[in-house]
Amino acid sequence: MKIDLHTHILPRDWPDLDAKYGYPGFIRLEHHKPCCARMMKGERMFREIQDNSWDPKRRIEEMDATGVAMQVLSTVPVMFSYWAKPQDALDLSRFLNDHIAEIVRAYPTRFAGLATIPLQDPDLAARELERCARELGLHGVQIGTHVDANEHCHGADCRNLDDASLDVVWSAAEELNSAVFVHPWDMMGKTRMPKYWLPWLVGMPAETCLAISCMTFGGVFERFPKLRVAYAHGGGSYPFTIGRMEHGFHVRPDLVQTDNRVNPRSYLATGDSPARFYVDSLVHDADALKLLIKLFGAQRVALGSDYPFPLGEARPGQLIESIQELSAAEKSWLLSGTARDFLGLAEQSTAAITDHTAAPLR
Ligand code: CO
Repeated sequence: MKIDLHTHILPRDWPDLDAKYGYPGFIRLEHHKPCCARMMKGERMFREIQDNSWDPKRRIEEMDATGVAMQVLSTVPVMFSYWAKPQDALDLSRFLNDHIAEIVRAYPTRFAGLATIPLQDPDLAARELERCARELGLHGVQIGTHVDANEHCHGADCRNLDDASLDVVWSAAEELNSAVFVHPWDMMGKTRMPKYWLPWLVGMPAETCLAISCMTFGGVFERFPKLRVAYAHGGGSYPFTIGRMEHGFHVRPDLVQTDNRVNPRSYLATGDSPARFYVDSLVHDADALKLLIKLFGAQRVALGSDYPFPLGEARPGQLIESIQELSAAEKSWLLSGTARDFLGLAEQSTAAITDHTAAPLR
């Protein structure tokens, strides 16, 4: 059985947000032919997408073809809109969250959902997270790797995930038992990456490394011991950098240990204990996945494919299934158990996932 923790979805239609909120920078969809649409930012095309980005029936056909029992749905990160006025980002978040909840309600054994929240206003964000958990039944939230401040920014300054203002969000997630999936967006150094798709290939792994570094060095896991966090794309460049992180921690405590005296290595797996936080499996390389499993433990690495986008794994779980050395128990964790544990899905309800006629998850 496979649960795909990392998939993105959009509504088929939404209002012209530039017109609705009165300033530019939002994404709109142009349906130029039956199966396809263009995501547009002003007159510039951001990405061409197909109907599997919005149609749950098309998604289920493709899930059945690739053996995926359940997708965990989250918005496309370009929709975060952390740069917008907080009330407008809240309005957009509510619209996207209601849409995801509606799909989960219609197909409760095939989809689970993650919310999006206006992180530029942590109090509003925490309240929307509470609504999504208590009223919509979503299992968690997807957030970016930092709170961006771009040329349109109407909110506060750029903040990393160690910023004390975000404690109210971590606190809400902990109290609501909501899982937090951290996905890179608004990549650093964009102006220096005009070619070769570098914001996606270099910027995204760097963003995720930045987010993990800030949350570990910043002591977020010390302040919120029950918080469950997963990082996309196998934790980006962090896993390969852990030796450097630990060395820096020892040789320059004056610079590195200012907010937290806990060695970053201690958040990773030791002996039989898995890591303190989770990552998805989307690394596209068998040796990288093996390193990930060694550093985090199979119980902290969850299948994630980035469906339906081309930089994802076309057959979700193929890389995991290709690794001969893994035991059946490890593969079971990687393909579904870790996602179930991260999301807090109850055992008996997910046992019903394979039986698509069974009762809803909650
Ligand atoms: Co993604």
